Amino acid sequence: LCPSAVADHERSRARVCVVIDVLRATTVITTAIAAGARSVTTCLDIEQAWEIKRNADPDNSPLLCGERACRPIEGFDYGNSPSEYSPAGVSGRELVMTTTNGTRAIEAASDCDVMMLACFANLSAVADAIISEMSVGSESSAAPNRQSDATEQAGPTEQMAGSEPVQTSGRLRIVCAGTDGAVTGEDVLLAGALIAVCHRKLSDTARFYEGPIDLVNDSGAIALAAWQHCITHDKVVDSDSLARRLAMTDGGRNMVAAGYEQDLVDCGSIDVFDSVPQRDRVSPARFVLR
Ligand code: MLT
Repeated sequence: LCPSAVADHERSRARVCVVIDVLRATTVITTAIAAGARSVTTCLDIEQAWEIKRNADPDNSPLLCGERACRPIEGFDYGNSPSEYSPAGVSGRELVMTTTNGTRAIEAASDCDVMMLACFANLSAVADAIISEMSVGSESSAAPNRQSDATEQAGPTEQMAGSEPVQTSGRLRIVCAGTDGAVTGEDVLLAGALIAVCHRKLSDTARFYEGPIDLVNDSGAIALAAWQHCITHDKVVDSDSLARRLAMTDGGRNMVAAGYEQDLVDCGSIDVFDSVPQRDRVSPARFVLR
């Protein structure tokens, strides 16, 4: 596994991509969209965020959001804690967000047709969206060879699931943001959980489904094993135990050191939203409710 920041040169194209930054960018964007934000536009630089605001219609001026070194950015409206994003503050508003790793992962993953953002809070909703998106794809494109789909040129950051046995098509890429160029446990755990939930849903419904290990490449299998270990060995059974487990990841330790322990609880809350932020088809850095 490698960080998404270096994967963009190595990856092959995927039709559907899910980006993960559990702590905290994709959790925050999902929370904001669930709270009624009209859109979240991501950018790499603080200056770029100001420029978007300067060029915006003054009657619809965006809120600036994000962090540097985990802390709120001077002059911005909101930091990077999910609890800051309430309907009272963001409903009906356009948001512009820049973060250290999450918005970079989004940029690095940009070469796809459909991009969705995942966190534990929308885990099941993303799994449903993936299954529905990949099924729609099968109507318009021939199913590729399953073996090559699952293994060919998989970038080192990505967990891929090819899907011929369930008669869906194309490839799914899951990009884990990590921290400062390193893979982090919290993102890998969510990738594994996502594969597990897709597996459960597909085994319930699909006639030809063969099981997750047949469909994922090695990095996907590693993520799945990490999540299964988390359930069986670390006894992660609910949001509270997940928050405790997140505190033992690199990202979690950073949060605790910076004084954002409560964010682990919010970022570890499972299935509290059915909202999936999806990249706007017209403006590629803009995420809207799917
Ligand atoms: C990031 O995008 O780097 C993270 O969201 C970091 C953070 O939340 O502080």
